[in-house]
Amino acid sequence: MTATATRPITDQLNVLLADYQVWYQKLRNYHWNVKGPLFFGLHEKFEELYLDAAVKADELAERVLALGTKPLSTLREALDHARLAEDDGSPSAETMVQNLVSDIGTLNQALRATAKAAADSGDDATMNLLDPMADEQEKTAWMLRAFLG
Ligand SMILES: [Fe+2]
Repeated sequence: MTATATRPITDQLNVLLADYQVWYQKLRNYHWNVKGPLFFGLHEKFEELYLDAAVKADELAERVLALGTKPLSTLREALDHARLAEDDGSPSAETMVQNLVSDIGTLNQALRATAKAAADSGDDATMNLLDPMADEQEKTAWMLRAFLG
C-alpha cells in the first residue's frame, strides 16, 4: 500500500478521531451537569460512554500512526475538524439523550463510510477496527432510544 493510497483513509480516521475527542468532552459535560429525577442512571451511563469514547479515540489515533500519519492531537485541531459540535447550553436530561442519539447517528454513518473506503482500498485492518465500533454503537443508540420511550 502506498502512502498516497492511505492518505484519504488517514484523513477520514483523523476526522473520526476529532469527532470522538469532541464527543468525549460532551459526554463529560453531560455527566457533570445532568439534573433531575433521571440523574443517577444518566450520570452513570454518561460516564460509561465517555470512558468508551476515550478507548475508541485512542484506537483511532493509533491506527492513524500505524498507517504512518500523525493523529490530530490537540483540542484546537479536534474542534477545527470534528463534525460533532460541543454543547455549551444547559439541556434537559431528555434533550441530552436525544443529542447523543443524533451524535451516534453521525458517528456511525462516518464509521461505516470509512470502513467501506478502507475495504475498497485493501485496508482490511481499518475496516475491522471501524465496523465493530459501529455495531456496538448501534446497540447503544437502541438503548438510548428505548430510554426515551
Ligand atoms: Fe464522575
